[in-house]
Amino acid sequence: MLKNSTITGWGHYAPERVVTNDELAETIDTSDEWIRTRSGIRERHIAGPDDHTSTMATRAAEMALDRAGLTAADLDLILIATSSPDYLTPPVSSQVQDNLGAACGAMTLAVGCTGFVYGLVTAHQFIAAGSYSTVLVVGAELISRNLDWTDRGTCVLFGDGAGAVIMQATDQKAGLLSHVLGSDGSGHEHLIQPSGGCRIPPTHESLDAGQNFLRMNGREVFKFATRAMVESLSQVMTEAGIEPKDIDLFIPHQANARIIEYAVQKAGLDPEKVIVNVDRYGNTSAATIPIALSEAFEARRAKPGDTLALVGFGAGLTWAACLFQLAAAPVSPNGQHEHPAVEGFIA
Ligand code: UT7
Repeated sequence: MLKNSTITGWGHYAPERVVTNDELAETIDTSDEWIRTRSGIRERHIAGPDDHTSTMATRAAEMALDRAGLTAADLDLILIATSSPDYLTPPVSSQVQDNLGAACGAMTLAVGCTGFVYGLVTAHQFIAAGSYSTVLVVGAELISRNLDWTDRGTCVLFGDGAGAVIMQATDQKAGLLSHVLGSDGSGHEHLIQPSGGCRIPPTHESLDAGQNFLRMNGREVFKFATRAMVESLSQVMTEAGIEPKDIDLFIPHQANARIIEYAVQKAGLDPEKVIVNVDRYGNTSAATIPIALSEAFEARRAKPGDTLALVGFGAGLTWAACLFQLAAAPVSPNGQHEHPAVEGFIA
């Protein structure tokens, strides 16, 4: 029999160092006014020398395990969404598994900024099939080391961080109501880190040409993003038979406040039900949605029984959306895990 899933733990981590727009304007030909009006970003967290994708992912995961009242030994699977792993090989998911002291399988999903939603949908499928009962899903990115800090059209937009959730099986009415996973590789050149893979290996020439840095055609990605956001949201609502008013919280990928505003208006969503934190984090790629989700739980904006709409888009080009219903009551899959954080919500 198919099982339902719900989110029982959440956490996020951002490096200590906060860099404001004004600080960037000291070294780049830009201004706080330009960045704020074009993107909604005011500041971002930038990794220090001891921060790595693996360490940030581990911190967020530990917090999520703690919230769920679980330990790493309870995990059946680890999914890490990232496009900025510590190494191309080995997969960063194995580093996180080792850091946590978990004894389960682990895999990395490289689906650009869309990776976390792909991960959440994948985790649900394993739980629904009855294969696993507890899955850790993390979005973690250290993009600042992949940026050309002289390319003002790109570098001012991104930040570093990680967010994590624990998904668990439940018999309650909960889980994935609908989803869409999309990909259109014909647009791959619009958001690309050309060198570093096998096609353009890192040579003196490719490094001198800056091909190891992330390049973005902002205007093209903007056009794609607004379309993808609106269309995929509409698809998941239709599939689930849900109207905008039924959505309790909309957590979109945080790339640009203008893209979010456009989608909210087009989809007819209540702006009060939208999470926006791009002003404080910038675009942390696959980490934006889990960071925003974790903050929403912390602020009691995401509550038991809520229907969440999550939409991501990014490199590939890719997009993904899902409607996810949280369980209304605490989950104790093995009859031994209490859920203090969620119990607090219900009081
Ligand atoms: O998560 C991955 C998905 N990524 C995204 O969703 C990003 C999508 N794209 C965007 O968010 C927007 O396209 C940007 C924020 C990147 C740019 O906004 P825009 O309104 O599309 O600006 P633009 O690229 O059309 O540039 C307008 C002007 C240009 O000058 P000219 O050619 O009009 O003289 C740029 O050179 O702004 C200039 N410009 C800047 N000026 C000051 C570009 N970057 C900067 C900057 N500071 N940082």
